[in-house]
Amino acid sequence: MKTNFTLSSKPALALAGAWLLSLPSWAQEAATAAAPEAAPESMFGIPGLSTAGLLVLCLTGLLLTAVLVLGGMVFVQSLPLLEKLYARPGLEHSFMARLIALLRGDAQLLTGKATDVVLDDHDYDGIHEFDNDLPPWWKYSFYATIVFSVVYLLNYHVWGGKLQDAEYQHEMQQAALLQPKDGSGNAQEVTNFKPLTDAALLEAGHATYTQNCAACHGQNGEGMVGPNLTDEFWLHGGDVNDVFKVIKYGVTSKGMVAWQSKLSDDQILEVSSYLLSLQGTKPANGKAPQGEKYEGKK
Ligand code: HEC
Repeated sequence: MKTNFTLSSKPALALAGAWLLSLPSWAQEAATAAAPEAAPESMFGIPGLSTAGLLVLCLTGLLLTAVLVLGGMVFVQSLPLLEKLYARPGLEHSFMARLIALLRGDAQLLTGKATDVVLDDHDYDGIHEFDNDLPPWWKYSFYATIVFSVVYLLNYHVWGGKLQDAEYQHEMQQAALLQPKDGSGNAQEVTNFKPLTDAALLEAGHATYTQNCAACHGQNGEGMVGPNLTDEFWLHGGDVNDVFKVIKYGVTSKGMVAWQSKLSDDQILEVSSYLLSLQGTKPANGKAPQGEKYEGKK
C-alpha cells in the first residue's frame, strides 16, 4: 500500500480541539474549589486571578496547544515510517500494526476481519447468515460497559459514593458557603415587612436619608441622579419589601449602592418606610417618573 503522503493536520486539529473542549470543565473545577472564599472582584469567579495572571494562563494555553499540534504533526509525519517498520514479518498482525493501519485509513482494527463463511443450516426463506465475528468495536464497548458497571456498583453502593440526593444536599451546602457570613443574607430572601408608622422611627429614617441618600435622590426625594422616590412609579416595585431589598442589595450596575454593609436591617426598614411616607408629596423640581406605576400587591 503506497500512498503519496501529504501533511494532514486533521489529527493534530482533533487533538487541539479535544484539549480545548476540556478547558471549561477544568475552569469549573478551579472555580468550585475556590468557591468558599470567592472574592467579589475576581475574574471568572477565580479569586486572585488578575489580568496579568489571565495573560500568563492564556500564553501557557497557547504554548501547550502549539506543543500538542507540533507533536501531532510529527506523529502524523512519521506514520509512513512506522508503517514500514510494522510491515515486517512477525509484526504485521500485531495490535500496533493494525493501529497504525487504522490511522492510515484501514479500519480493520475496529471492524474486524470478515471471513464471510455462510452458515449453511441457517436458511430463512433464502436469506443466509454469515458466521462473522462481532466487530471489535462492539465487543470492546461491551466489555467496557461490564467494567463500568462493576466500578459504578462498588463506588455508589459499597464505598459510599454520593447518590443523587446526597449530592444535591452537598451542592446546597456548598452554595450556602457563598453567602455573606456577616448575616447580611441573600438577595433572593423573601421579607414580610409592613411599613413603620411610628413617628420617631420615621424621623430616624429621615435622618438616614438626608445623610446617605439625598445626594442622589434629592433632599425631598424628588430625584437627581437616582429616580424620584415620591411618585407612584417604581423601577423595582413600590412595596415596602421591594424598596427594602433595593436599598439593602442595591442595583450596583445602575449606580444604586448596596447599603447592607453600612446600614442595619432596622435602619433600612426605617428609611424604606420614610420613603413610602413621601408618596404623593410632589416636591419642587420632581424628576419625571421612571418605571411602572405601582398599584399595591395583587
Ligand atoms: C450614588 C447615588 C445613589 C445613592 C447615594 C443612593 N441611590 Fe438609590 N438609586 C440610585 C440610582 C441611580 C437608582 C436607579 C437604579 C436603577 O436604574 O435601577 C436608585 C434607585 C433607588 C431605589 C429604587 C427606585 C425605583 O424606582 O424602584 C430606591 C428605593 C433607592 N434608590 C433608595 C435609596 C436610599 C434609601 C438611599 C440611601 C440609603 C439611596 N437610594 C442612595 C442612586 C443612588
